[in-house]
Amino acid sequence: MTTITAETLNAGYGGRPILTDLDLTVPPGVVTAIVGANACGKSTLLRCLSRLLKPSSGQVVLEGRSIRDMPTRQLARVLGLLPQSPIAPDGITVADLVSHGRHPHQGMLSRWTQADDIAVAHALEATRTAELADRDVDELSGGQRQRVWIAMALAQETDILLLDEPTTFLDIAHQIEVLDLLVDLNCRRGTTIVMVLHDLNLAARYADHLVAMRQGQVHAAGSPERVLTEDMVEQVFGVPCRVMTDPTSGQPMMLPLGRHLTPPEPARKELSA
Ligand SMILES: Nc1ncnc2c1ncn2[C@@H]1O[C@H](COP(=O)(O)OP(=O)(O)OP(=O)(O)O)[C@@H](O)[C@H]1O
Ligand SMILES: [Mg+2]
Repeated sequence: MTTITAETLNAGYGGRPILTDLDLTVPPGVVTAIVGANACGKSTLLRCLSRLLKPSSGQVVLEGRSIRDMPTRQLARVLGLLPQSPIAPDGITVADLVSHGRHPHQGMLSRWTQADDIAVAHALEATRTAELADRDVDELSGGQRQRVWIAMALAQETDILLLDEPTTFLDIAHQIEVLDLLVDLNCRRGTTIVMVLHDLNLAARYADHLVAMRQGQVHAAGSPERVLTEDMVEQVFGVPCRVMTDPTSGQPMMLPLGRHLTPPEPARKELSA
């Protein structure tokens, strides 16, 4: 199983530091969710892990080797990234876009093979996008398009899959479907999944390992029970909340306390205690 770590990573844009001395170990073969406030550096971290952004110091290590020196095609066979706002080439069809996921598997001279056909068909089927195969990507709804991008990432068949907010634009049914699909992929193929999520309850339910980021650093990492605490939510998001146990999954579940939430009398006493 392929391991990936970030070691004392410093990275930013135009000399402005965003990630500072960030250390991260992604446990292999499990589902990791990264949570954190807007602009804390989650996408920047995924960009560094996938070599889209070069760190100013520190390194990303894949299988004991810095990704800095790895041939692009080799890296793309091991690690796939679904960015936060991917851009499709104009006029491309769904089938063609998903087929792009197979590029890292083709050598200089080798042609499209049956294995490529099978991988694309599986990806379309798993994301329920097969019926959209002939449509133009730019004609789709936001949610349909998101599932097509996930299909492309699946078709790449990498050991590690990084997904930046894969549930954005999806209604609740499709959010659950995508998260279930990623867990299936993890269970069946042992794919290491790293996903950025904003919904803390879904993150705690679906992830084996939770990483909370704050101001360009890892604030807390570990099991959802250890990481999703009232203190963490207050420190990372500045939001007071209650954390309780989800009666169905047994995982922690948070309820934010907005300014307008008036708890019933017994809870109010408890809160002011
Ligand atoms: N291409 C860029 N050029 C300059 N600054 C950038 C660029 N991309 C991101 N930033 C800045 O880096 C910081 C971290 O951005 P990043 O996209 O990593 O945040 P994030 O945690 O993914 O936030 P969100 O939850 O909103 O997606 C922000 O202040 C952002 O403005
Ligand atoms: Mg982001």
